Amino acid sequence: MGQFARLWPLALAIMLGGLFVWGQSGARAAAPSPGERAYQKCYACHSLEGPDPDLQGPSLKGIVGRKVASEPGFAYSPAMRGFAAKQTRWDRKALDAFITDPQALVPGNRMGFFGIRDAGERQALIAYLASASPGD
Ligand code: HEC
Repeated sequence: MGQFARLWPLALAIMLGGLFVWGQSGARAAAPSPGERAYQKCYACHSLEGPDPDLQGPSLKGIVGRKVASEPGFAYSPAMRGFAAKQTRWDRKALDAFITDPQALVPGNRMGFFGIRDAGERQALIAYLASASPGD
């Protein structure tokens, strides 16, 4: 019995250690992808599900390939409407340029976002948008 009493704290430590490692790997599996993490810069203003009057921006549902400034009922700025006359659809190239520096591509637009300079992060974000919310 003396032997066991000395050993059981060790056994408990091994068990708890195992639980800890198991918990850590679970957390890793559930961690967001780089694209999903980048989208966390957008979701305060944009939904992926469809128009949401509580959010500042239009929905980004099916945005890759969607027509520019085309959400029905959304009050786009004159700048964004003007841009739609030049650029019909948000292809990947236009999206990439817009996310890099929104004011450079569409001067005077009302999106309060500074841009993402990291090309890899933009690429991951656009891939995430395309897969999380494909066009109809
Ligand atoms: C602070 C709020 C805000 C944030 C953050 C924001 N946006 Fe926007 N976004 C807007 C608003 C407002 C508009 C409409 C701009 C206009 O009409 O001038 C817009 C417009 C857009 C459009 C054009 C949509 C269309 O229907 O043509 C795209 C694409 C877009 N945002 C992508 C993004 C992405 C991607 C991110 C994250 C990297 C992001 N936005 C972050 C507010 C935001």
